[in-house]
Amino acid sequence: MENVQTIFEQAKELTHKGKVASYIPALAQADPTAFAVSLLSTHDKIELGDCNKTFTLQSVVKVLSFMVAANHHGIEEILNYVDVEPTGDSFNSIVRLESKNNKPFNPMINAGAITIASLLPGKSMYDKVKSVTRFIEQILGKQVYINNEVYFSEYHSADYNRAITYILQANGFLKSDVEQSLQVYLQLCAISVNTSDLGKIALYFATNGKNSDAVCSKEVINISKALMLTCGMYNFSGKFAAFVGLPAKSGVSGAIIAVVKDGEMEHLQGPIGIGVYGPAIDEVGNSVAGIEFLAKCSKHYDLFCL
Ligand code: DON
Repeated sequence: MENVQTIFEQAKELTHKGKVASYIPALAQADPTAFAVSLLSTHDKIELGDCNKTFTLQSVVKVLSFMVAANHHGIEEILNYVDVEPTGDSFNSIVRLESKNNKPFNPMINAGAITIASLLPGKSMYDKVKSVTRFIEQILGKQVYINNEVYFSEYHSADYNRAITYILQANGFLKSDVEQSLQVYLQLCAISVNTSDLGKIALYFATNGKNSDAVCSKEVINISKALMLTCGMYNFSGKFAAFVGLPAKSGVSGAIIAVVKDGEMEHLQGPIGIGVYGPAIDEVGNSVAGIEFLAKCSKHYDLFCL
């Protein structure tokens, strides 16, 4: 008889099929066999694996920084800088920035997320980073920290992202200078969390931010969920939407948030937020065990959102 525990155990067996991200030296130190999940409803939770283990948000933060920027400027203004169209390209692809329409396709790829970093409220790097950490802290009800080892490790190996940032500046999409935009983006990627935090962030979306101190317009929350469904899992987003059917966002640290608007999973009922950590990732950048876990849960508990 399948349940969350057995699905977790089966998924964990797949960790050996992935590899930890090695292009950021500090991420290469992660334990490839690690796997943890937190499932939160408004009243209850199921947690399996080491849910206190910390890791960095990486690209999961992209959806949160988009929300802060869109809430601040309004979506119409944001659309002048970043579109909301999927690409099918890898997250750090540079090719479309050279095409005739060189506006970043969406805020979930690096080009879009670096542009969003430049648009965050405040003038200094500190203020821009703080605008997002404050939003996350309001969702979590606790302080969050930046993992400086991961930040500096990535900063010193960020040639690709630096190249993207220069092209964005040349094309007139940045609101702050190259160095600041890049540093804000990389600091946000290095925010440290655990799977319980991810579950809470996912639950924020599942409840449309109801009863949360983190204020965001319903319009921006809706667009964020649409972006997660269409662009949240890198160039696996179409297949994830088709076969798992949940708004979700992944990061190369092996983090994933997945949003269940209304489900029933054992004693959890109603809106459910799922946080996953499995640092062994596939060639696209998604946690191998995490994808398996979410796919099996979606099938078994009939979570498909459409
Ligand atoms: O830009 C990078 O390479 C990372 N800091 C974030 C990578 C990630 O999780 C995938 N990006 N969309």
